[in-house]
Amino acid sequence: MFFRKCPFLLIFTLLATPLHAQDGEQLYGLYCAACHAPDGKGATGGAFPPLAGSEWVHGNPKRSVAIILKGIHGPIEVAGKSYNLAMPPQGDALGDDQIVAILNFVHKAWGNKGQDVPRDLVRVARAEFVSRTTPWTAPELLKILPLEKQPTALVNLTSRVYKGQWNQTPDFTKIQAENVEEEHSGILDTALAALKDDFGIVWEGDFMAPADGEYAFILDADDGAKLILNDQPIAEVKGLGPMDGSRVAKGKAALKAGANHVRIEYFQGKGNQGISLGWKIATATQWQWVSATTAKSTGGNPPIPLMPIDGKTVVYRNFIKGSTARGIGFGFPGEVNMVYSADNLAPELVWTGGFIDAGLHWTNRGQGFQSPMSEEVITLTKQRLLPPTARFKGYSLDAKGNPIFHVKINEQLLSDAFAPGPDGTLVRTLKLSGGTSALEIPLGDNPSVTTEKSVSLTPGKPVTITYKLR
Ligand code: HEC
Repeated sequence: MFFRKCPFLLIFTLLATPLHAQDGEQLYGLYCAACHAPDGKGATGGAFPPLAGSEWVHGNPKRSVAIILKGIHGPIEVAGKSYNLAMPPQGDALGDDQIVAILNFVHKAWGNKGQDVPRDLVRVARAEFVSRTTPWTAPELLKILPLEKQPTALVNLTSRVYKGQWNQTPDFTKIQAENVEEEHSGILDTALAALKDDFGIVWEGDFMAPADGEYAFILDADDGAKLILNDQPIAEVKGLGPMDGSRVAKGKAALKAGANHVRIEYFQGKGNQGISLGWKIATATQWQWVSATTAKSTGGNPPIPLMPIDGKTVVYRNFIKGSTARGIGFGFPGEVNMVYSADNLAPELVWTGGFIDAGLHWTNRGQGFQSPMSEEVITLTKQRLLPPTARFKGYSLDAKGNPIFHVKINEQLLSDAFAPGPDGTLVRTLKLSGGTSALEIPLGDNPSVTTEKSVSLTPGKPVTITYKLR
């Protein structure tokens, strides 16, 4: 009939059919898939840029809103590949709700970990960019909406700590873990166990491959380690020995863009400890490190200023200047930073501004202590204030990556939580559980951040104090 002969009418009918705002996937199929492909990997075999694993759809959701509204053209880098094409603006064809629905789909599809798009964002962005009549170029857009640093390719990482004496990597599935933690920094670091000898760690999570293709991995450890990807063994450093480059293991794997399940097993005998894991697209030259230390034989030297990502607190577990050997650094959103000493069982250093440049420890392991990125670091205590019977029991992270330290004091358990407050403040919440006796917790002598000298805790009743750092 007439319909069949006139494709324009057909398209018109399709566009005029009101789609439910929540049909993000369906809208994507209609408005984006022709170029970005139904599987998000870029149409015509990747001639168009991918949305799966694209850094452009992570972090600030306003960037992808701006791209849909106004289009983008000219040279652009996406997931390690260069393109020089044009995407037409779609701001007039799509309603606010439709853009929200499409992006809420794209930001979460194919292993993407992008953010939810607030309902009002599209309206606000339309108003902001109303006078713009030409598509963006990538540099223009990045100037106002820069890409967020993704610290490493490891996401959804958890760590399990095991105790035991081994001379090769044991079957961890048969052993009970002592401690499970989320590792929001996406960085492998044996210091997390806060143990010297005879322990193991198993990390599990997703390796985010930026594109389909062959990947190379490099692994080194003191003592042993194994890398398993999508249930396939990729590389192994066997038995006891140093991490001096003489035992480096390499392996390759063909991966699909997006999340690939990764498992890293590690064990430490006695003496030095550490693990390094690097990856690259097989044809690339530079290794990218996902560990606090790098393998010796490679000579990589990436400077990495650590910072909170997506509003989450970042952790740094390596030697930090001004702290004890077991100092653990936290960079909170709002430029508030802290080092907690697992030796002194107390917050030791606090400062505002930049957190830490991890470059030094990324390069050569154990080369001195890394300084905080600030001239004005406040020392809260230099010594242990809790009774000598107190024991460090590790720490956990809440959903925002803020730490809660666990300390056993005789038969009672102290939980000591830290979170950023408004205007450069750090909020500390202490809680005692178990037993009936009250406990006095000294805070040290630091009148510049708080006038309280100690807090009195009764079991079950949390007490909150606020440190003013600015
Ligand atoms: C006509 C083809 C076409 C359509 C339709 C299209 N795009 Fe694009 N898109 C492109 C091209 C080409 C680029 C890269 C432009 C360049 O080279 O500067 C791009 C870039 C992008 C980027 C930034 C780079 C990346 O790959 O992450 C995003 C995000 C994006 N598009 C999202 C979308 C969404 C969402 C839709 C649907 C509402 C859509 N595009 C519809 C062709 C298209």
